[in-house]
Amino acid sequence: MTEKRKVQFICQNCQAPYSRWQGKCDGCETWNSIQEEVILSKSGVRATQLVKTAIPISAVKVYPEETISSYFREVDRVLGTGFVKGSVCLLGGEPGIGKSTLSLQLAQKIAATGHKVLYISGEESASQLFLRAKRLGPNPPSLLILVETDMADILTVIRTEKPDFVILDSIQVMAHPDLTSPTGSISQVRYCTSELIKWIKELGSCALVIGHITKDGSLAGPKVLEHLVDVILFFEGEPNQQYRILRCFKNRYASTAEIGIFQMVASGLAEILKPSELFIDEVTFQNPGSSIVPILEGNRALLVELQALVVESGYGMAKRSFLGVDSNRASLMIATMEKLLRVKLGGKDIFLNIVGGFKLSEPGLDLGIILSIASSLFEKSMTAKIGVIGEVGLTGEIRAVGNIEKRITELQNMGFSACLLPEKNRKNFPAKATIQPYYVNHIRDAVTRFLGE
Ligand SMILES: Nc1ncnc2c1ncn2[C@@H]1O[C@H](COP(=O)(O)OP(=O)(O)OP(=O)(O)O)[C@@H](O)[C@H]1O
Ligand SMILES: [Mg+2]
Repeated sequence: MTEKRKVQFICQNCQAPYSRWQGKCDGCETWNSIQEEVILSKSGVRATQLVKTAIPISAVKVYPEETISSYFREVDRVLGTGFVKGSVCLLGGEPGIGKSTLSLQLAQKIAATGHKVLYISGEESASQLFLRAKRLGPNPPSLLILVETDMADILTVIRTEKPDFVILDSIQVMAHPDLTSPTGSISQVRYCTSELIKWIKELGSCALVIGHITKDGSLAGPKVLEHLVDVILFFEGEPNQQYRILRCFKNRYASTAEIGIFQMVASGLAEILKPSELFIDEVTFQNPGSSIVPILEGNRALLVELQALVVESGYGMAKRSFLGVDSNRASLMIATMEKLLRVKLGGKDIFLNIVGGFKLSEPGLDLGIILSIASSLFEKSMTAKIGVIGEVGLTGEIRAVGNIEKRITELQNMGFSACLLPEKNRKNFPAKATIQPYYVNHIRDAVTRFLGE
């Protein structure tokens, strides 16, 4: 059977096919949505004998070392165990966040253990790559580099070199000569990725593909790209902060709950051993308006500092600005405070922020939001070095929160002497903990306990 390549023009909005390009789709009437795509039509004589057969799942041959460790504890934590052989992982992130730095460090670490690693760059020259690699760490002989943007040539090199690990920086600058559409177009990105995946699976290697993100923060390229790859990682951070967070949005082999935390230093990305130290400031967190909440990211607890600023509103409409916390949740907490604590917040501007630029949506943050606002409103700081845990219901009751043991242990490790926690969590309080627990049932008790009478 022979494969014949045929191009077709397809509307990316409604999938209507056209034989030639046109500016507007007749079907859905969108402009500029028609893109060239390659379709493979199979022709010729079909072999009478079946080449592929279905097999029982128990008969699948498993390779002895089915994952390649990244030798980065934080990356392995996010991936589950490491890069699974035959898998393709997409790494997205804002420009300059450190995607190439992280990939080059991974390449060096994996190559140092004897694996053959191929780093393909379409964005930087070989000398630029070498200069960066020299700054990041030693360069093992099994680390190969290729500066190329032609996907057909890249695939030829992959087929001949048969590397264990391939890094492609980045998919948006690659173009396959089979297509006439421009570099970075949806069809190019999709076609290059699917061709790469085909060969990676064939060779049983792993690949890490770097992808740019669009202005609204999603991965550039069609949604279908997200279905093609096995793992999607996002590298994020605040431009003016040194720390970076690696998150997983899709993983065919492990949970997506874990995060990896790094710090950008001169020698590249360093793993953070005690993340809580990064997010709380020993000096400021005992000021009015501040509370410390132990949150859970995946299997790990870490402390974050929640700051609130409540000021008299100068203009008619009170201003509300919530950074890092879910705005619906925060508005709900403000309404609960007004009703149940009988405080007047209508004429006040309220600002909330999680120190360090962390973005969180867990319900365990509720009580922290209320206490930070109350602390700023009454201009009173917490009475002791006290951590705050609790989800708050609409009637002001404080609900139980999961994984209390981990949260308490983290507070204790960071030198906290006391903790406010839901009465309903009394039974989960670790017996060995030396920290003083204050159990609270209602937000009224919590405010009194936190700020004094
Ligand atoms: N000598 C250095 N010391 C410390 N940090 C550095 C140094 N050189 C570069 N950096 C950091 O590395 C970042 C650039 O990283 P990198 O090129 O890996 O980002 P990227 O995500 O690949 O960006 P792009 O999308 O543009 O390719 C810079 O923003 C800077 O913070
Ligand atoms: Mg880069």
